[in-house]
Order: sequence, then structure tokens, then C-alpha cells
Amino acid sequence: MKTLAQLLLASLGAGVASAETKAFCPDYLNYSQVTHEPLSTGKYALSYQRPIPACRTFNSSTVEALIANMSSVVADPDLYRLFENTFPNTLDTAIRWRGHAANNSAEELAFIITGDINAMWLRDSANQLQSYLPVLESDPVQIQQPESIASLFRGVINLQARYLLTSPFCNSFQPPPESGIQPAVNTDAASDAVTPAYDPRAVFECKYELDSLAAFLQVSTQYYETTHDAAFFAKFQWLPAVQAVLATARAMADAGTYGADGRVLPSPYTFTRQTSRTTETLANDGLGSPVRVTGLVRSAFRPSDDSTLFQFLVPANMMFARYLAGAAGIVAKLGSQAPPGLADEMNAFERALSAAIAKHGVVPVVSANGSSVETVYAYEVDGYGSANLMDDANVPSLLAAPFFGYLANTDAVYQRTRARILSADANPYFMKGSAISAVGGPHVGPGMAWPMASIVRILTSDDDGEIVAQLKEILATTDGLGLIHESVNSNNASQWTRPWFSWANGLFGQMILDLRFRKPEILKQSFQ
Ligand SMILES: *[C@@H]1O[C@H](CO)[C@@H](O)[C@H](O)[C@H]1NC(C)=O
Ligand SMILES: *[C@@H]1O[C@H](CO)[C@@H](O)[C@H](O)[C@H]1NC(C)=O
Ligand SMILES: *[C@@H]1O[C@H](CO)[C@@H](O)[C@H](O)[C@H]1NC(C)=O
Ligand SMILES: *[C@@H]1O[C@H](CO)[C@@H](O)[C@H](O)[C@H]1NC(C)=O
Ligand SMILES: *[C@@H]1O[C@H](CO)[C@@H](O)[C@H](O)[C@H]1NC(C)=O
Ligand SMILES: *[C@@H]1O[C@H](CO)[C@@H](O)[C@H](O)[C@H]1NC(C)=O
Repeated sequence: MKTLAQLLLASLGAGVASAETKAFCPDYLNYSQVTHEPLSTGKYALSYQRPIPACRTFNSSTVEALIANMSSVVADPDLYRLFENTFPNTLDTAIRWRGHAANNSAEELAFIITGDINAMWLRDSANQLQSYLPVLESDPVQIQQPESIASLFRGVINLQARYLLTSPFCNSFQPPPESGIQPAVNTDAASDAVTPAYDPRAVFECKYELDSLAAFLQVSTQYYETTHDAAFFAKFQWLPAVQAVLATARAMADAGTYGADGRVLPSPYTFTRQTSRTTETLANDGLGSPVRVTGLVRSAFRPSDDSTLFQFLVPANMMFARYLAGAAGIVAKLGSQAPPGLADEMNAFERALSAAIAKHGVVPVVSANGSSVETVYAYEVDGYGSANLMDDANVPSLLAAPFFGYLANTDAVYQRTRARILSADANPYFMKGSAISAVGGPHVGPGMAWPMASIVRILTSDDDGEIVAQLKEILATTDGLGLIHESVNSNNASQWTRPWFSWANGLFGQMILDLRFRKPEILKQSFQ
């Protein structure tokens, strides 16, 4: 006689297996580049971009109800279509596999691909799920039920914990062996020389990015703070994974490039790649630019997966501090189930990091009128006094600091920093144009604005005029496809990159749901 759990497992396994073999389902990489009827009825005539129900990778009746409800909240037909396409995009297309650990049938696993690349990024998967916080409810049966968003969160947290325990310096991972899915071949990484070494059957790419560590703490904190399900965190490998995250961050904070006697210290992480792009490898034979100990944590790469110019990436340190505090709350709640002193250690690390950000991450610049000196957050510093004054579209960015909860958008240093970030005269990666003006970055390059940065600008603004202007630009630059692309030529919206970028799609939906409560009158407006 089978238990309820076994029956659920059997039915889920069958569902996934048949979904995998649905030969009539188009490849979404192709589907997302083609227009599908019915078009939206406004002047932008946006394509319908959801796969047919039988081809979706996850069904949620709560999400369907929310999408339906929003049709009476969002008045403009084109804006509603963009929401309808983007909000469910991760569920519709990117839940590549769900199952259980081979050595523990109670441990849920979820492998979520980034979209057009068949691998799971720590950052993307945490953010892909973040979009569904408004529909996350704790479920009574902690076993993988077909429609449970909570189960998806647990599956991602468990799989990220496994990844971090074996390869804490890596950013992107292969399907778990339990899935039976073949590892993807990463031709870009063919020439990579990385220490510590990694197993390419488990790791897709091994760029050490501080925000990947923060992403694990983020998805954990967000699951806990919404469901209050503390018990989950004591069951599997979460606590050891948190300790691995702390050890990795400490190793990247405690030592600089040189020892007291001037000798070059062995770096816990090095990376080189044969490439024609400077942002795809590290200077100094894989060490990166020299750093001095400041209390900040080094990051070899940015959330764009481009290398840092100076290794103390300030927004990544902000995000890591923010979610160290969040995850410390879970550890504290676990009481004697957690290692003694762990929550205190995390809180102390957070306080030290925040102090180091205030001391080393805030730098003087000459004001725009040239007559005074003001302080702003630098994007990157090195502890020697050098600062990189810019922002990049990928989150964590400086622009997003209030979005991920490090500071309030009224913070004076943030406001001055924001004014520079959003100025083509002060941020070398602000892309100004006739189609869209937004922060971009070296990842796709000059001239290419990132709609993701326009979305973050809305999420961090209280100014109705600014919000409406950003919504108009985003809506006008999907090339009729009704999806959020990675980047758009700021002067020609028919030129864009990445047809299927699931995180950016979800972030757009999340932003519209945020406006529903914060600025409902804006969603009543026409954008024609
Ligand atoms: C995309 O799908 C269309 C229609 O099914 C097909 O004609 C086309 O060849 C496909 N393109 C690619 C690049 O697979
Ligand atoms: C979602 O529901 C449709 C029926 O509406 C079904 O055909 C499909 O297999 C389901 N997908 C999953 C992943 O369960
Ligand atoms: C949709 O709206 C109905 C009626 O207002 C409400 O009862 C329901 O909870 C809403 N569902 C969601 C998912 O927001
Ligand atoms: C279960 O298997 C995974 C993947 O092989 C491994 O990382 C993990 O350490 C194992 N867990 C236990 C408790 O043995
Ligand atoms: C120049 O700008 C600074 C900071 O924005 C402001 O405090 C100062 O009053 C301005 N000076 C003049 C002469 O406009
Ligand atoms: C915009 O880009 C498209 C696609 O590359 C091209 O066909 C078109 O000529 C460009 N428009 C202008 C005004 O340059």
C-alpha cells in the first residue's frame, strides 16, 4: 500500500516525464522570437508569449487567478499583456526538473534554468523565485505537490545548499544527477583555469561572485520570512551550507593581495580564461587587481558575470550584509538545533561589513557645478584609495540598494549616488537614447540599455512622473514581442539581446505587483 507521499511522488514523476517527451512543444528559445496571436489591442500590438498549458513547466492556479485579477487593475491593454506574458515566465518555461535527493526521499530538489542557457545560476534562480513571493504560502504537507510554490522554494534552497557545499566559489551549475538530464557543455569555459578546481559535470561555470553567496541567503530569508517555516532549515544541508558561505566570504575578506612582509599571498580563488574580452578573465594571472584588507569581501566577478575592476564590489557587499542579517534570524530561531554562536557570528559579520561599507565604500566627488565636494557610494574600491564611479544594470547594483533592503531610498548618500548613476555625464555606463535611456554595462557593451535597470528605477522611486516615464520606455521597446530583453539599443529598439531572460521577465511582473499597492492610480492610466 502506497502512502499519500508516494502517490504524489509517482504522479509528479509521471507528469515531468511526459512533459519532457512532449514532442509537439516548441523550443521556447524559438517561440520567444516569433509573434503569436492574439496581439494586444493597444498601439504596441504585443504578441502573446505564454506557451500553451500542456507545454508549461509548472502550473499554479493561484498564479492564474492573480493574472486574471490583474486585468481589472492594469487598465492599459499593452501594459497588461506585458504583465501577463512576463510574470509567469519562470513557471511557464524554466522549471526544468523537480524531484527528490537520491539519498533522502524527503529532500525536495528543483532545477531552474536561467532561460536560454541550460544551467542554474545561484543568483538567477533566487531572483526567479523572488517574483513569486506574493503567491508564496506555507503548505502543510512538506512533500512535493504539483502546484506548491513553497515546494519550489525548498527545492531551490536544497539544491543551492548542495552546490555551495561542493563548489562555494562557483556561480552556475549543472542539473543534479537525480534528474537524468545530461550536463550542458560550456564551450566558453573550455580554456578556464580555476582554483579551487571543480567538476564540470556538476558546475557549468565557476566565476566567484559575492552576490551568488548572498543569493542563497536571500532565497532562504525570503522563504522563511513569508512562511515562518523555520523547521525546514534544520532538516537537510542548510546549516552546513551557511557555514560554507561564511567560510568563503571570510577567506575573501581576511587577506589582501600582499602579506605584512610584502610577499604575495596565495589567493583562495584564481581564474583565467583565454578570451578577447578583458571582462571575461582576471588581471595578474588570475589574482585580480590588488586589494588591501578593509573588512569588505572581495568579488572576482560582478552580477553581470563580468570581472571586477577593483575587487571590493560595494553593492554585492551591501546585499551580502543585508541577507546575512536576514539569515541570522533563521539561525537564531533554530536555537539549539544550530551550531552555538552561529547567529551571533553572522550578526557581527553584518555589522562589521556595514561599517566597512560606510568607511571605504563612500567616497568624495566634485559636485556637478564644480564648486563643492560631496560623498557618494562607489561601485568598486580597492582599499588603496582607488574607486570606480559607475553602476551596472545587473542586481545587486547601487541603484537597487533600497530594493534589496540595504538602505532607504531617502538616504542622502544614496540620493546623490542615484543622481550620478542616472546621468550620462557621471555614469560611463548610462545609455542615453531616443528609444530608451537606462543603465547598461560592459557585459553587452556601450549603447545597449538594460530594461532591468528601468524596472529597478521604478522599484526604488516614489516619483510618479519618473515611474510613468520608465513604464512608457519599457513598453515601447520590446520589439513587439512582449517580453523583457536583456538589453536594447538605446536608439533602435529592434536591436536587442537574449530572447528568453526569465529573471528580467519575472522582475517586471514583480514590479507591476508592487505598483498595485504602492501606486495603483498609475496602473489605471493609459500608456497609448
Ligand atoms: C522556429 O519555429 C518556426 C515555426 O515552427 C520554424 O519555421 C522555424 O524554423 C523555427 N526556427 C528555429 C530557429 O528553430
Ligand atoms: C499543466 O497543466 C496542463 C493541463 O492544463 C498539463 O497538460 C501539463 O502537463 C501541466 N504541466 C505540468 C508541469 O504539470
Ligand atoms: C482575485 O480576486 C478575487 C476577488 O476579488 C479574490 O477573492 C482572490 O483572492 C484574488 N486572487 C488572487 C490570487 O489575488
Ligand atoms: C546526498 O547526495 C548529495 C549529492 O550526491 C551529496 O551532496 C550529499 O552530501 C548527500 N547527503 C548526505 C546526507 O549524504
Ligand atoms: C553646487 O552644488 C552643491 C551640491 O549639489 C550645492 O550644495 C551648492 O550650493 C552648489 N553651488 C552653487 C554655487 O550652485
Ligand atoms: C534598427 O535596427 C534594425 C535591425 O537591425 C535595422 O533593420 C534598422 O535599419 C535600424 N534602424 C535604424 C534607423 O537604424
